[in-house]
Amino acid sequence: MRPQTPDWWLDELAHAGGEHLDAGYVAGYDRKAGTDPTADLELLRDHGLDETSTLIDLGAGTGGLALAAARACRRVVAVDVSPAMLSALRARAEEMRLANVECVRAGFLTYAHRGDPADFVYSRNALHHLPDFWKGIALRRVASMLRPNGVLRLRDLVHAFDPAEAEAVIEAWLAGAAARPEEGWTRPELATHVRDEHSTYDWLLRPMLRRAGFEIHEASRSESRTFAAFTCIRRSEPAASQGALFRT
Ligand SMILES: C[S@@+](CC[C@H](N)C(=O)[O-])C[C@H]1O[C@@H](n2cnc3c(N)ncnc32)[C@H](O)[C@@H]1O
Repeated sequence: MRPQTPDWWLDELAHAGGEHLDAGYVAGYDRKAGTDPTADLELLRDHGLDETSTLIDLGAGTGGLALAAARACRRVVAVDVSPAMLSALRARAEEMRLANVECVRAGFLTYAHRGDPADFVYSRNALHHLPDFWKGIALRRVASMLRPNGVLRLRDLVHAFDPAEAEAVIEAWLAGAAARPEEGWTRPELATHVRDEHSTYDWLLRPMLRRAGFEIHEASRSESRTFAAFTCIRRSEPAASQGALFRT
C-alpha cells in the first residue's frame, strides 16, 4: 500500500464494498457475475496485446480477465484491495500453473507500478468505488502507469443518461434484477449500489479521461444505460500538469 499518505487521503478498503472482503461472497462471485472475458481479450489483442505485453488489471477481483490474459502476454499484474479476492485469484493462478501473474494488494490510489511501463491497463466494474474527486486522481495515476500510446480498457457501472431520466432508467434497471443472489444482483443489491456507491455520469467520465491524458478511441453503453465501456489511448501528459487550473 502507499507508504505515506496524507490524513485526507481516501481509505480505499473502507470504500471497497464490504461484500468484496467477505470470503463467502467471493467464493460464489464467479457464478453470480457470470462474466466471460473472451470479447475483452479479443479487443485487447486487436490493440496489439501479445506475448511481449505487460497488462495491469486494477480491481481484478477473482481474475477472470487477468488469468485469461496471462496465457496471451508476458506479464500480468492483478491489483485489488481485497485480500479475499486476491487469495481466490492466487489460488486459481496456481491451479492453472500460471507463473507470470503477480498479485498485488493495493488500489487505484496506492498501486506503485514497478518495471517497464505497462502496455495495457484493464479495469472492470471497480472504478465506481471511488468518488469523482478520486476518480480524477486515479485516472491520472493510470495514465502514468502506461507507456505512450498504451491502452486503457475501462468498463464500469456508469450512468449513461441525463439526470432528468434518472428515475425511469434506474427503476427499469432494478426491475430486471435477479430474483436470487446466487444468480446475479438482486434489487436490494442494485439499490445499494445506486444509493451508496459512486457511479458517475458518462458525460463526466469522458472529460475526466481526457484530462488524464487519454484519447477515447471507442465507447459503448449497455442497453440499460447503467454500464459503459471505453477503449482509451494514452496520448499526452495529464492536463493538470500543463499549467494552473484556475487564474487567481
Ligand atoms: C465488482 S468487483 C469486479 C471484479 C472484476 N474486475 C470483475 O469484473 O469481475 C469490484 C472489485 O474492485 C475491488 N476494488 C474496490 N475498490 C477498489 C480500489 N479502490 N482499488 C482497487 N480495487 C478495488 C473490489 O475488491 C472488487 O474485487
